[in-house]
Amino acid sequence: MRALVTGGAGFIGTHLVERLLKEKYEVIVVDNFTLGHKENVEKFKDNKKYKFYNINIEDTEKFCETLKDEKIDIVYHLAANSDIQKGGKNPSVDLNDTFMTTVSVLELMRRNDIKNLFFSSTSAIYGDRHNTLVSEDMGLLQPISYYGGAKYASESFISSYTFMNDLNTMIFRFPNVIGPNLTHGVIYDFTKRLQENNKELRILGDGTQTKPYIYVLDLVDVIFKMTKKIPKGVEIYNIGVDSATSVTRIADIVCEELGYKNVKYEYTGGNVGWKGDVPKFQYNLDKIHSTGWVATHTSDEAVRETVKYIKKLKK
Ligand SMILES: NC(=O)c1ccc[n+]([C@@H]2O[C@H](COP(=O)([O-])OP(=O)(O)OC[C@H]3O[C@@H](n4cnc5c(N)ncnc54)[C@H](O)[C@@H]3O)[C@@H](O)[C@H]2O)c1
Repeated sequence: MRALVTGGAGFIGTHLVERLLKEKYEVIVVDNFTLGHKENVEKFKDNKKYKFYNINIEDTEKFCETLKDEKIDIVYHLAANSDIQKGGKNPSVDLNDTFMTTVSVLELMRRNDIKNLFFSSTSAIYGDRHNTLVSEDMGLLQPISYYGGAKYASESFISSYTFMNDLNTMIFRFPNVIGPNLTHGVIYDFTKRLQENNKELRILGDGTQTKPYIYVLDLVDVIFKMTKKIPKGVEIYNIGVDSATSVTRIADIVCEELGYKNVKYEYTGGNVGWKGDVPKFQYNLDKIHSTGWVATHTSDEAVRETVKYIKKLKK
């Protein structure tokens, strides 16, 4: 199998590339390092089954021209702006890096008759559903961030290209993904700030924001297993864990792992961390669980493993 991984120098992409190479796939990575890192892919460079292109995927013509002779069997489309807060300051970031990259991938597939697509979507497309358990077939989606809007628009384009071109498409709506190589987000931020000052911690919101966190290797495992053979049409799955972790609980786990006691938490107040943030959500996971897959780490365990990794990083 010959796979194209867009965004393969990023956090999740790097783990996926590693798994695909281990499974003897040939892997082509396209990334322009807007958020990914050269060091993430350095380790693959001597592998004869690995190839890398530094291209801005938004540039549809250049992207399609460069890859037209690559004989790709499956595209794993992970490239996007993963920094929702950054995108919140400038809508063109998500228009270009999250939506236009999807258009380019679909054009590459249409022009070259590539049939298999995996797309990394997100819980952000559901918007703020308060305490409702969200299922894949929930209607009237109202994303509240540009990022969520661009992913929802991507899903719509993917659906139309799938039916117009007889594609086999799998969409996973990820929750928060964490683990080794994580570069931003609340767990990264708390760990780094507490290493600098172990007396107090400023927490955005009131600390009750509660989300499921999945360990990246659990995610990559289910991506690999479910994409070995993708059925015709579009299959959508919520992917996640049954448990969830509040922001205050994250702070507690970070303090426990760093060995700090009596840290004073200062809450900025309100029940959201920042505009565009969905403070609470929980998935209905019946569909993915019916395939026999269940994550091996709970949300709290994923947080703890991630803190163990971050605390060892150089400052
Ligand atoms: N990490 C999460 O919690 C999470 C949750 C839900 C969905 N997702 C989705 O999973 C995918 C991977 O996320 P991640 O956490 O690994 O993010 P990441 O930022 O680490 O990886 C994304 C990669 O895409 C690349 N990229 C972005 N725009 C590009 C462009 N125009 N041309 C070429 N490369 C470009 C970046 O350089 C980066 O390496 C993304 O689509 C993200 O939206 C992630």
